[in-house]
Amino acid sequence: MALQVWTVGEDDEDLKNHRELLPLSKLQEIGVLYWHLDPKRPESEEELAKIRKDRGYNYMDHLDICPGKLANFEEKLKNFFTEHMHADEEIRYNLEGGGYFDVRDKDDKWVRIWIKEGDIIVLPAGIYHRFALDAANHVKLMKLFLGEPVWIAHNRPQEDHPVWQEYVKRLTDDNAGGLVGAPWTSSLLANGKKRDWPIQSSKLWKNNSTYVCFFLSNMADCTAAAVFGFLLTCTVFVGCNA
Ligand code: LAC
Ligand code: NI
Repeated sequence: MALQVWTVGEDDEDLKNHRELLPLSKLQEIGVLYWHLDPKRPESEEELAKIRKDRGYNYMDHLDICPGKLANFEEKLKNFFTEHMHADEEIRYNLEGGGYFDVRDKDDKWVRIWIKEGDIIVLPAGIYHRFALDAANHVKLMKLFLGEPVWIAHNRPQEDHPVWQEYVKRLTDDNAGGLVGAPWTSSLLANGKKRDWPIQSSKLWKNNSTYVCFFLSNMADCTAAAVFGFLLTCTVFVGCNA
């Protein structure tokens, strides 16, 4: 089952009876990455190794969030659920159980990401978020990190924090097309790339009663340009002969 993502209210009123699922492009918009592996299949080891290699996640350890297994369980849960950010990515691979990562979207609304067994998510550095267990009340997470791990949580507000500023700049930078183009979205770019208008320049001129359309198009969009050109040529032709 694909990740489920929906909006929750400010007071965690899950709009619970009323989950309107959001498209996963919602996550791409805000720089959240995800994969799904089956922790029980041996092949997953290899896939995990590839993700770790591609993204430089050389550090790894485990965290059982479970009453009885985690010291100061209640207090830790309270901290996990306090809105915060980190100066680095937060990378979690869910090996068992389930939980909710709530992240702030572009409008500063909570988006709830339900992670179940096999889900891997990467929260970009600087994003405000919080975590809670789901009804199963336990989760076993693999924590990954690039370099020496730093687990410092900076509680909101952090508007002076350079990492927060950098994150928001990427979110709002029109020239970069928002987060599209930001380094952490590179693996998603293939599907979600913002497209330029296919016709980069066009000229229309009259030559011996024939209208000639000349298009320069980039290679990737030449099909769209050809269709557009064909339709335009037809229109001009019909117009000339009417
Ligand atoms: C955290 C836990 C969920 O860092 O890993 O928020
Ligand atoms: Ni965190």
